Amino acid sequence: MSSRHLIDTARRLVADDKGLLAMDESNPTCDRRFARLGIPQTVEARRAYRELIVTTPGLSECISGAILYDETVHQKKKNGIGFIETLTDIGIIPGIKVDTGAKSLALHPGEKVSEGLDGLRERLAKYYEMGARFAKWRAVIAIGDGNPSRGCIEANAQALARYAALCQEAGMVPVVEPEVLMDGSHTLERCFEVTEEVLRIVFNQLYIQSVTLEGMILKPNMVLPGLSCPNQEATDEVADATVKCLLRAVPAAVPGITFLSGGQPAELASARLNAMNVRFKSRLPWALAFSFARAIQQPALQIWQGKEANVLAAQQALYHRARCNREARRGEYTVQMEKSERT
Ligand code: 13P
Repeated sequence: MSSRHLIDTARRLVADDKGLLAMDESNPTCDRRFARLGIPQTVEARRAYRELIVTTPGLSECISGAILYDETVHQKKKNGIGFIETLTDIGIIPGIKVDTGAKSLALHPGEKVSEGLDGLRERLAKYYEMGARFAKWRAVIAIGDGNPSRGCIEANAQALARYAALCQEAGMVPVVEPEVLMDGSHTLERCFEVTEEVLRIVFNQLYIQSVTLEGMILKPNMVLPGLSCPNQEATDEVADATVKCLLRAVPAAVPGITFLSGGQPAELASARLNAMNVRFKSRLPWALAFSFARAIQQPALQIWQGKEANVLAAQQALYHRARCNREARRGEYTVQMEKSERT
């Protein structure tokens, strides 16, 4: 597969102020979110929810690519048309999560390594044939007492790089996601330090594995204080720290950085992305975009509650969050956008 094709797809994923929609929750994660809202945890409920998402009017105005889960790529709308075909028809590039989850890392208490390399070449070939043009692999790095260890960072970075190389071989753009988790009482400075180290090691491994940087997307965390840190920095300080960290560690050849939301409140995730683009957009080598799951979906899921009668209202909420994040890419998101939605 030519790298021109990969570069073109990667650029399209961050073009026109759009971003990615992560709708690739594994069945256990999806079920957990459903259970909290009293939604039945069934194959049909998960299918109906994903149909609600992909049929949201206007979605492709704000979303360039959608990341699906293995169960979802095999599912169809009620009218018999598959989700991959539906997305492709409306101009949204279908993607697929291919790691098989974060498992305990041997001899490293409290740390995890994402698995899924075995058989990945064959799975990628199958997904490509089905119409997927990019993939995602998420590694999780927890900050804690003495953690992360070098062993954890290196194991995850190497797996990310091997995954990315396999994706490019298969003609699919790798979305490389090393997520430094928000859980804990660590400071923003500590998150900065860990994120910088992780990104440096990830890019070193990507280089060693000959990954074409122009044909990939980086999906990192924002640089944030831990959820239970008493000192929670203001939006502009988060924006400054995040961009400073990325400038140190992410090569200019990468076309786009699409943040995960990581459990931030949806409005705050938009405000922080907006602040980065307001303050730095014209001076950055890469696009700063989004690849949110919860920060786009959560309000819609709460409205839907598994009921057909709530589908339209839920779709409006989903579209609203997608639009807020498109505006945040432009540096034109305002709190008024949230108020006008509620009236
Ligand atoms: P959140 O935006 O909910 O963190 O999810 C993004 C994602 O895809 C995690 O892998």
